[in-house]
Amino acid sequence: MKFSYVNPTLIHFGQGQIEAIATSIPQDQKVLVIYGGGSIKHNGVYDQVVAALSNHTWLEFSGVEPNPTVETLDKAVTIAKEENVDYILAVGGGSVIDGSKYVAAATKYDGNGWDILIGKHTVTEAVPLGAILTLPATGSESNSGAVITQKSTQTKLPFMASAVQPKFAVLDPDSMKTLPERQLINGIVDAWVHTCEQYLTMPTGAMIQDGYAETLLRNLLTLGAQYDDRDNNEWRSNLMWTANQALNGLIGTGVPHDWATHMIGHELTALYNVDHARSLSIVQPSLLRNQIEAKRAKLEQMGKNVFGLVYTDDLAERTIIEIENFYHSLNSPTELTEHGNDKASTIDAIIKQLEAHGMVALGEHQAITPDVSRKILEDAVK
Ligand code: NZQ
Ligand code: ZN
Repeated sequence: MKFSYVNPTLIHFGQGQIEAIATSIPQDQKVLVIYGGGSIKHNGVYDQVVAALSNHTWLEFSGVEPNPTVETLDKAVTIAKEENVDYILAVGGGSVIDGSKYVAAATKYDGNGWDILIGKHTVTEAVPLGAILTLPATGSESNSGAVITQKSTQTKLPFMASAVQPKFAVLDPDSMKTLPERQLINGIVDAWVHTCEQYLTMPTGAMIQDGYAETLLRNLLTLGAQYDDRDNNEWRSNLMWTANQALNGLIGTGVPHDWATHMIGHELTALYNVDHARSLSIVQPSLLRNQIEAKRAKLEQMGKNVFGLVYTDDLAERTIIEIENFYHSLNSPTELTEHGNDKASTIDAIIKQLEAHGMVALGEHQAITPDVSRKILEDAVK
């Protein structure tokens, strides 16, 4: 397929790079620093930000929650408008960066910010944004996407706009040292599924996109295998860079995308508060089995080039088992157990939300209708 490609985010990678924000943000800009629940106060990141901004005028907004809500973020929008903020600096994981993207866009819009998520307002301008990443997973630090939740309606929706793509991103592997094990594993799984969403579709002969996607997948397998020896800069650096490359646009240029696992997963998160990455490892194996004929050729290619399997008639089936084994090796679940009610009403609730959000023709062939999602969930909900 035809494509035009640019990734305009300047990356400052490596230990000690947080000080680069001193020159990346013009000194005459008034900065709003946005962060989450306070993890950055325990790993030295906040102190480094304060030191780097010593010649800037700045203020802060904290309390952005995992799976950031519009209810919280609108408070930051009010501050950004009242204080005439020129620049936003997001410091945290995907939630803080996504939330900051929403704040950046909503600050330049006079209507209700939620209009951005429901497609009623097309974002063409935003407050410029930079990011300091503390959790490698989403790729949000150098892409134009964000996923925002409306708590009152349990709705989690994505938006994309080039205006909210960070101008720069700092990737300092030292900032990962305080990550709880669960979040670290979430990062590996999310990056893995991002790669799959852009690779496990149908063959197109795109040698760069396929070959690079396979490299990223093999990296994640290796990092998972080395998990017990992860306390070193090399391991952290490789994960941080791999997760970034998995969703910075490159492997997705000019090839079909899937994203059905993500869209169904978002509903699990919105309804049952499942961690984003865990929602993906729950849905994906079942989805791949359901779509196995459409995806057979790519599953076989993955089996051979990522897992090193030899060809047999059931190579695609064995590849899905390997993917599942990978999740199990990381203790990431492949069945939804976090729901409260019985299985039938859980599935009904998820389908109802998918329909309400227009998620009725998902996947690279738009073949995943609510009926198909229901079949996928039959296997995914315990
Ligand atoms: O809030 P704080 O105190 O910072 O704690 C966070 C949070 O509790 C903690 N954490 C982050 N860095 C830490 C740390 N704790 C200790 N040390 C550190 N260095 O980790 C917890 C989870 O953080 P969160 O930002 O929610 O995780 P993640 O980066 O996995 O982001 C998930 C969100 O990103 C969206 C997801 O839907 C979800 O809302 N996604 C965004 C995408 C994008 N923009 O392209 C694509 C993804 O598919 C995904 O949908
Ligand atoms: Zn994801």
